Amino acid sequence: MNSSPITFRGCYATGFMVYWVRIQLRKRNYHNMILYFSGTGNSRYAASLLGKSLDDKVFSLTSLINTPDGDKLVSETPYIFVVPTYCYHIPSVVEDFIMRASFGGNNGIYFVMTCGAGVGGAGAANRALCKKKKLRYMGTYTLVAPDNYLVMYEPSDREESERRLSVFPEKISGIADTVRSGAAFSEKSSLLGRQISTAGSRLFNKFLVNPGKFTVNNACVSCGLCAGNCPLHNIDIVDRAPKWGNDCIHCLSCICVCPKSAIEYGKSTKGRRRHYVFPDGTLK
Ligand SMILES: Cc1cc2nc3c(=O)[nH]c(=O)nc-3n(C[C@H](O)[C@H](O)[C@H](O)COP(=O)(O)O)c2cc1C
Ligand code: SF4
Ligand code: SF4
Repeated sequence: MNSSPITFRGCYATGFMVYWVRIQLRKRNYHNMILYFSGTGNSRYAASLLGKSLDDKVFSLTSLINTPDGDKLVSETPYIFVVPTYCYHIPSVVEDFIMRASFGGNNGIYFVMTCGAGVGGAGAANRALCKKKKLRYMGTYTLVAPDNYLVMYEPSDREESERRLSVFPEKISGIADTVRSGAAFSEKSSLLGRQISTAGSRLFNKFLVNPGKFTVNNACVSCGLCAGNCPLHNIDIVDRAPKWGNDCIHCLSCICVCPKSAIEYGKSTKGRRRHYVFPDGTLK
């Protein structure tokens, strides 16, 4: 007579145990590959939080680009690219990397794009890129971060930068939950948005990116930080001052990292504040 409630409780406990073991196994087997590109630190910071949240490895694309076979990737679970937005597009250096890389194991790919205000039609452009590469597009997440584009306007001040960064942990935890569940990021993107993003990005690269416009003034103390932080190794210190080559992606790391604000880009950056530097003194 008493056996029925005990059996019911036993079944319930066994069911719970199976569920718990499945969750644990899933957690242990989850190895995402997080790859980031960052000029001024926002995307690096987001990628490191995501790595901690998912307990996954984080790789700098800058290092991989300079490593032989660094573009031969293998991951059990979807790849996650964390990158800044340049004119409503992923940086061209990241697009080129994705086009030439081989993606072993899983073929899913998420994009997390940090930006000052919005990513426009970048999601549709990323979807098209994945289609070209026969990768499974898992969506583009827009993560608003301190704005660094001082060439066009005054970037976020310290207070605003800290406010934007303070919500990163909560947002990244939501991103991690979505990735763990295997779902795609929800987003709205259109064909028109994609065309605007792609065309805008081409015009931007052609007309706005001009390393010949960088100048340095007498405040320079030859510390070499601008050269050391350039992700494309486009700066040499010659006669105790930076000299720019032509391989520039306009990330603004050099201008923002200078402790003496000795670098300008044409006339437009004169008198403008520099991008927020992280509390540990790093940009990337
Ligand atoms: C060249 C350039 C273009 C940018 N274009 C956009 C844009 O289209 N939309 C936007 O919201 N932010 C734009 N930004 C701001 C950056 O995307 C944003 O500050 C980003 O978080 C910087 O990331 P990082 O610190 O990892 O380099 C631009 C910044 C630069 C340097
Ligand atoms: S030269 Fe300056 S703006 Fe150009 S890629 Fe290097 S750090 Fe970025
Ligand atoms: S970071 Fe500034 S001070 Fe240091 S070498 Fe470059 S321009 Fe000069």
